[in-house]
Amino acid sequence: MLAGKRITLIIGGGIAAYKSLDLIRQLRRAGAQVTPVLTRAGAEFVTPLSVAALAEAQVFQDLFDLKDETEMGHIQLSRTSDLLVVAPATANMMARMVAGLADDLASTLLLATDKPVMIAPAMNVRMWQHPATQRNLAQLRADGVQVVGPNVGDMACGEHGPGRMAEPAEIVAAIAAHFGPRPLAGRRVLVTSGPTHEPIDPVRYIANRSSGAQGTAIAAALRDLGAEVAFVTGPASVPAPEAVQVVRVETAREMLKAALGALPAEVAVCAAAVADWRVAQEFTQKVKKTTQGIPLLEFSENPDILATLSTHEQRPRLVIGFAAETEEVIAHATAKRARKGCDWIVANDVSPATGIMGGAENAVHLITESGVESWPRLPKGEVAQRLAQRIAEAIA
Ligand code: C5P
Repeated sequence: MLAGKRITLIIGGGIAAYKSLDLIRQLRRAGAQVTPVLTRAGAEFVTPLSVAALAEAQVFQDLFDLKDETEMGHIQLSRTSDLLVVAPATANMMARMVAGLADDLASTLLLATDKPVMIAPAMNVRMWQHPATQRNLAQLRADGVQVVGPNVGDMACGEHGPGRMAEPAEIVAAIAAHFGPRPLAGRRVLVTSGPTHEPIDPVRYIANRSSGAQGTAIAAALRDLGAEVAFVTGPASVPAPEAVQVVRVETAREMLKAALGALPAEVAVCAAAVADWRVAQEFTQKVKKTTQGIPLLEFSENPDILATLSTHEQRPRLVIGFAAETEEVIAHATAKRARKGCDWIVANDVSPATGIMGGAENAVHLITESGVESWPRLPKGEVAQRLAQRIAEAIA
């Protein structure tokens, strides 16, 4: 996949540095040649010896290592690769890149290079969300730096939220996407994601639980294979992916309108957790506790977006639905595939014990015309990549 590609991998300081060892392994397995650069902070988390052993290459650490300078100057080192990857990229490293500092080997290489740069940020959620880091992120993007992740999930520091470094397989996929081939180039796909909110009155709503993480990862994976992605999302808790066409909606009816508005598309992936019912008569004023007693809500059925797309005159060639079940997952999902008229169903068990809902991993079954395929439990990003790959093969 990456045969002959030369990657300079800068390993920053942070607990995610341990994942960089696996990243090196996966890059090597994909055929890439890895030149590792270990920052001083990075070396607090992984040893130069383990990095060198996995990369099967010399580790560069110090700007003033004269032996390296005589053999290969830092300017040359910054330009002998096809891509520079910073993983993990700490908040500090991002700030230094934005400022154009060159006070150690890694920052000097990043300033001196004429090659593309990709970063995989990893940091505490508060550090990631801090306006300074978000400003730096925007500036790095404006400077042409590609960004992979971070993912949402539990962090080593005990907090939960965005800040986990993308998984090595996701970084490898982003690198592969950078170099191509892009089997979905020129193909338009629709992805629905997140929950819908159905108003009861101006302040209350009913909704399904959904972080939007899996739908977001699928949109990103399809984009990485070159697809033009229309991403119709309800109010999700994870940010929408970069470089896709985002349409934000609240209700199922809005989602249907946006989904139909995104046609024609060759593929539709309906990953949204759409509320099945809405309150038949939305109250125009906030329902007061005291005056009217406990309100009785009457529901009416929401449109089924997946079923509508499956029977639409502009039906995408491949329509994929999801089935979140808490029991008899495969039986229910197989019945759902027939009922909705879609081509594939991605089914998963979302009973609380699995930790899948809102979590970083997913264990899915792919139900197609030819049967059931059970995939191992994988990070949501990897589930998305596998699915995107299957989609690319199906519509090739
Ligand atoms: O019927 P159920 O909600 O279990 O089906 C789940 C699948 O159908 C998902 O793919 C979901 O995105 C889709 N769906 C939809 N519109 C609805 C309800 C579900 O597109 N109103």
